[in-house]
Amino acid sequence: MPRATGPQHPLGRTLTEVVLPGVVEPDGLIVRERPLPTPGRGQALVEMQATGVSFAETSMRRNRYPGQPKFPFVPGYDLVGVVRAVGAGVDQALLGRRVAAVTKTGGWSTHALLDARDLMPVGDDIDAATVEALLLNGITAWQMLHRKAPRVRSGQTILVHGASSGVGLILVQLALLDDVRVIATASQRHHELLRELGAIPLDYHAPDLIDRVRQLTPQGVDAAFDNLGGASFKHSFGRLAPGGMLVGYGTASQRDDTDNQILTFFGILAQFGFWNVALNRGRRATFYNFWGGKIIRPKRFRERLSADLNPVLAHARTGKLTPYVAARIPLAQASRALVLAESRTTQGKIVITP
Ligand SMILES: NC(=O)c1ccc[n+]([C@@H]2O[C@H](COP(=O)([O-])OP(=O)(O)OC[C@H]3O[C@@H](n4cnc5c(N)ncnc54)[C@H](OP(=O)(O)O)[C@@H]3O)[C@@H](O)[C@H]2O)c1
Repeated sequence: MPRATGPQHPLGRTLTEVVLPGVVEPDGLIVRERPLPTPGRGQALVEMQATGVSFAETSMRRNRYPGQPKFPFVPGYDLVGVVRAVGAGVDQALLGRRVAAVTKTGGWSTHALLDARDLMPVGDDIDAATVEALLLNGITAWQMLHRKAPRVRSGQTILVHGASSGVGLILVQLALLDDVRVIATASQRHHELLRELGAIPLDYHAPDLIDRVRQLTPQGVDAAFDNLGGASFKHSFGRLAPGGMLVGYGTASQRDDTDNQILTFFGILAQFGFWNVALNRGRRATFYNFWGGKIIRPKRFRERLSADLNPVLAHARTGKLTPYVAARIPLAQASRALVLAESRTTQGKIVITP
């Protein structure tokens, strides 16, 4: 593709994108073409090399993701690509560079028009699908472990729910790299992989789950990372050792409920606040929100994304961390990617390619 050096594009160029038109089954996604947009001041046009399916899209198609845009919109939480055009005020040196960005929506497109400040340069030495597998998932895992639960250290024990997910598999590996003992919950079919990684797998559907965790850590866990929500938050908080930290990071068990998601979220914050004040006995609960701080301290937010992605990529480069790419599926078959993501059979990231 020729490089554009300014806001103009060769005439007649189009992009292809996948639209989520409303609450539909995966086969209700629409593939459409439209003219390539021209970057305005401060913007860059990125040609997608890899994007992916995350749990967020499976929630958005049910209209169950807090703060999602009104339908119709183009989903796609993050992407890796090459800068093809930049608008006024943007460093021309970005042209032709491989970048990564977490966009929340808009990634399922051959091209994305983005705020240039949100672009994180990444080297060409790792394949785009690998970077994609480590992008949202890697930053999330790194920030939860090192920013939300920074006191976790070698020899301690943590509990990770959602361990078979894209986020979970990275979190488990990062903790094991620090010589932390990991109790990892997932559906039974994922246990072999978790055991191979070095974690202790448990089935979160098991009625005696809490007893099993208690048997493994009579003194309590030093941190619990919980994406299940609901009653699980209470159980995880109850299993913390003195000084332990509960990091809530999702409400997966409630994805198919019909309550108001925003109210649920504020309910969690109120509950955690109450536990921190009234029940803490040295334990704390916090909710991890990837977007926390973006509005109040945007510069620091962006700096942290790069700062936290880089060590994850570095671990992958040295082979210490395995990026799990569950499948590579072309953009035009995004419906198939969504079906696969919801099958609960995969391990790691389902990557969408152009
Ligand atoms: N707070 C944040 O800012 C933030 C950011 C990123 C991700 N997250 C959360 O991180 C988690 C993993 O995200 P991901 O994109 O990496 O996921 P993913 O790769 O799509 O994996 C889905 C995971 O969800 C589990 N799951 C699927 N349906 C479920 C249900 N109905 N009830 C309970 N568990 C279910 C699966 O477990 P099994 O197959 O083992 O049953 C699997 O672990 C999600 O809960 C997501 O909301 C939070």
